[in-house]
Amino acid sequence: MKESTDSGLEELLGLARKAAENSYSPYSKFRVGAALKLSNGETVTGTNVENVSYGLTICAERAAVVRAISQFGPRIRVAAAAIVNLNGQASPPCGACRQVLAEFIEPDAPVIFPVESGTRTMAFSELLPLGTEMKLK
Ligand code: THU
Repeated sequence: MKESTDSGLEELLGLARKAAENSYSPYSKFRVGAALKLSNGETVTGTNVENVSYGLTICAERAAVVRAISQFGPRIRVAAAAIVNLNGQASPPCGACRQVLAEFIEPDAPVIFPVESGTRTMAFSELLPLGTEMKLK
């Protein structure tokens, strides 16, 4: 499925692709990049960083979130997210990344990711229903 993509998301996809070239993925050889558009107008990227333990691998999406807070502080909001891999395969964000994104992303933020036939765009709230509802007081 190739949906028409607005130019903002196309630009984010380009940045994500560039980030994927820096992937450290000697175990899976699956090279992933993520780019986040922040509501302050900035963009940040991340790539997956694997570990010999396997379990300590950090996905591209979480790397980008950590980078966003490191660079711009804890009040950032994510307005859009793009994910790319250089392997030509589907890679929607994993459950752990959805949960971490939930902390900072707007529920209606578009998330564009690779599917078998191209890309798919979904609102974050469709990817993780009720994901932004949990509140601790
Ligand atoms: N990976 C990501 O970085 N993001 C995704 O959305 C899917 C999976 C990484 C984790 C691991 O380094 C490799 O891809 C294979 O799962």
